Amino acid sequence: MKKQRLVVAGSGSTYTMGMMMSLIEEKERFPLKEVVFYDIDEKRQERNAKATEVLFEERYPELDSFSYTTDKQKAFEGADFVFVQIRTGGLAMREKDEQIALKHGIVGQETCGPGGMAYGLRSIKDMIQLVKDIRKYSPDAWILNYTNPAAIVADALAREFPSDDRLMNICDMPIAIMISYAKLLQLDVWDLVPEYFGLNHFGWFTKIYDKEGNDHTERLKNLIIETGFKPEDTEIANDVSWQKTFEQARQMLIDFPEFLPNTYLQYYLYPEQMVDKEDPANTRARQVIEGRQKRVHDTCDFIIKEGTAENADLHVDIHGVFMVRAAESLAYNLAERFIVIVKNNGIIPNLPADAMVEVPCLLTSQGPQPFTVGEIPTFYKGLIEGQLAYEKLVVDSYFEKSKQKLIQALTLNRTVVNVSKAKAVIEDLIAANKGYWPEY
Ligand code: NAD
Ligand code: G6P
Ligand code: MN
Repeated sequence: MKKQRLVVAGSGSTYTMGMMMSLIEEKERFPLKEVVFYDIDEKRQERNAKATEVLFEERYPELDSFSYTTDKQKAFEGADFVFVQIRTGGLAMREKDEQIALKHGIVGQETCGPGGMAYGLRSIKDMIQLVKDIRKYSPDAWILNYTNPAAIVADALAREFPSDDRLMNICDMPIAIMISYAKLLQLDVWDLVPEYFGLNHFGWFTKIYDKEGNDHTERLKNLIIETGFKPEDTEIANDVSWQKTFEQARQMLIDFPEFLPNTYLQYYLYPEQMVDKEDPANTRARQVIEGRQKRVHDTCDFIIKEGTAENADLHVDIHGVFMVRAAESLAYNLAERFIVIVKNNGIIPNLPADAMVEVPCLLTSQGPQPFTVGEIPTFYKGLIEGQLAYEKLVVDSYFEKSKQKLIQALTLNRTVVNVSKAKAVIEDLIAANKGYWPEY
């Protein structure tokens, strides 16, 4: 079995330690010879790196080398896989996005509505540059990208690198939801076989089977409606915000019982309610800064101080495991089934061919092999077309530096709709994003 050289780009991420735990957990299935951290923020990277050094000494002695660098050539030369998880502008800019939208009475969220638009316009530039840098030194490496907003990033990268077939965008939400399904069904998540369609953070499960072909969909719907819906993955199970979000998925299922919704649809289906429950002084970004980020930083400091990771609060979470398992399937041609983001090209024939859709695929050494979904019903098609047009207009506006297209984009977005609101929030976001956005 070939051993891989893996680069983690954005290694200062709050998810890096969980990902390292996942690499340890999966080392038989995804054996590594070398792990390299790459980030532009030396200090942020160093904390994770020093803790990882200790962790790997104890739990990954098979590794030839572990290193960290801000030098692109050192990082990317000879890479087999690059896992990307960058956040342009950091959580500080996420907080601004969320607060600015809320000030206008609009949903303030990382990937949805004006917040997602703002973040998208920041991410596109850095992601294009990063992919160029990786390709300069490693033309054939697999690039697996988590960077949000994944829908907008995927569309922009597909336009900029149309023939790059070793670049794949993924999201952990569908599989995180499936962990909750598995718990309710008393099955293992890896025994579930989902049917799913949509855009990133904008999709539905149409069927949940097990590997023997038994259909659990109706039983699952009844269980959710009767007993409620809760996050079960270790990273989010005890998080009050995620608990509320999963509970809201139950309401969506009651309102539209045909298919099982992605949790992110709550922002588009009940935008006023989402605004009402928000506190601008304590948006999700603030909660993450004081929650996940603080916990990870404290854990790393503890490991570094103790010189051991033995008593550290580290866990394997689905975020890391999903990325690693997807990589395994690509690397060793396992043809395992995962929900990932790919170009539509007829998978859903009544949506445009160039839409970046999220659907089940077999991951092989030739890349994702999607299954045909078929035509989707009018309600979902209508919702998706509006959202897709919004995403396309955001990417157009980036390349064309067109403010008019931003106004069109937000007018189409279900979290905004009102043109005066769209114009006002755009002006505030332009001012806040100086240096990050194109000049409009
Ligand atoms: P974070 O701010 O903690 O970490 C991001 C890291 O990226 C930082 O260390 C930062 O210095 C670095 N970075 C920023 N710009 C860079 C660049 N141009 N090159 C290299 N490094 C750069 O963020 P986080 O909360 O841990 O999230 C990381 C990313 O993963 C975000 O984009 C987030 O939205 C995304 N994410 C996606 C999913 C998904 O389902 N697709 C799930 C979780 C997180
Ligand atoms: C889910 C989504 C991601 C999102 C993450 C963190 O995993 O799929 O796209 O970035 O949640 O969200 P949070 O609000 O907890 O930072
Ligand atoms: Mn996601």
